[in-house]
Amino acid sequence: MIKKCLFPAAGYGTRFLPATKAMPKEMMPIVNKPLIEYGVEEALQACMTDMCIVTGRGKNAILDHFDMNYELEHQISGTRKEELLADIRAILDKANFTYIRQREMKGLGHAILTGRALVGDNPFAVLLADDLCIHPEEGVLAQMVALYKQFRCSIVAVEEVPEGEIHKYGVIAGKALTDTLVSVEDMVEKPEPGTAPSNLAIIGRYILTPDIFDILEKTPPGKNGEIQITDALLQQAKSGCVIAYRFKGRRFDCGSVHGYIQATNYCYENFYVEF
Ligand code: G1P
Repeated sequence: MIKKCLFPAAGYGTRFLPATKAMPKEMMPIVNKPLIEYGVEEALQACMTDMCIVTGRGKNAILDHFDMNYELEHQISGTRKEELLADIRAILDKANFTYIRQREMKGLGHAILTGRALVGDNPFAVLLADDLCIHPEEGVLAQMVALYKQFRCSIVAVEEVPEGEIHKYGVIAGKALTDTLVSVEDMVEKPEPGTAPSNLAIIGRYILTPDIFDILEKTPPGKNGEIQITDALLQQAKSGCVIAYRFKGRRFDCGSVHGYIQATNYCYENFYVEF
């Protein structure tokens, strides 16, 4: 029912310089697979087939990755090394990729609004590839699609984070519906220390209803002078309904060196099969 997944991927990844000087941060590998490929696999697992990627300057490696490389394919054809391309070939068989360039970095809300031309008038998912989410049976987006079927409104994934970390996130507060669901009543993007309305941080998984685009068009710049999806979602929550969902699984903040190393160790220990 939700076919499209939007990947904002125009950011610079300055925390990983110099690695990200010429390479998109979304192409940083966790063991031997780029971060964005984990995201695409999660979207496919949730039955989404259209990957809508918001790119920027210097991001061409993403387009090349999700395409054939005839020279390489020819070179390793008939050898054991073909096995190493099995996952990406399976992705290319199942998914469509469309791209749009975000010319200026004006925040996550602006990146999502830029994706409107690819998404159209449909409910859609948003996946921030530097939040790597792992659940052995059901990916976080698949969990959220099941909820969307029930609530038919925007849904954000949230996680409890320690007090010292909460200022890095969008933070929600509201009325608990169950142990894992909150009906959102307040939302603040990166609150000043000591002012967060709760310890529930938004992580990089959203399901959004398409009315969010009209709201984003009218949303003024917020935190750090950027157009924030958090501010637009608060408007949606006030006039309708937004659900926050404490997801099942583990999240690694691969936008930070510490989280990236943790994810690398975790994936190496749990999934890597020696070639
Ligand atoms: C963005 C969102 C923030 C959210 C975070 C999750 O922030 O603006 O609300 O909590 O992603 O990773 P960023 O990390 O891009 O600064």
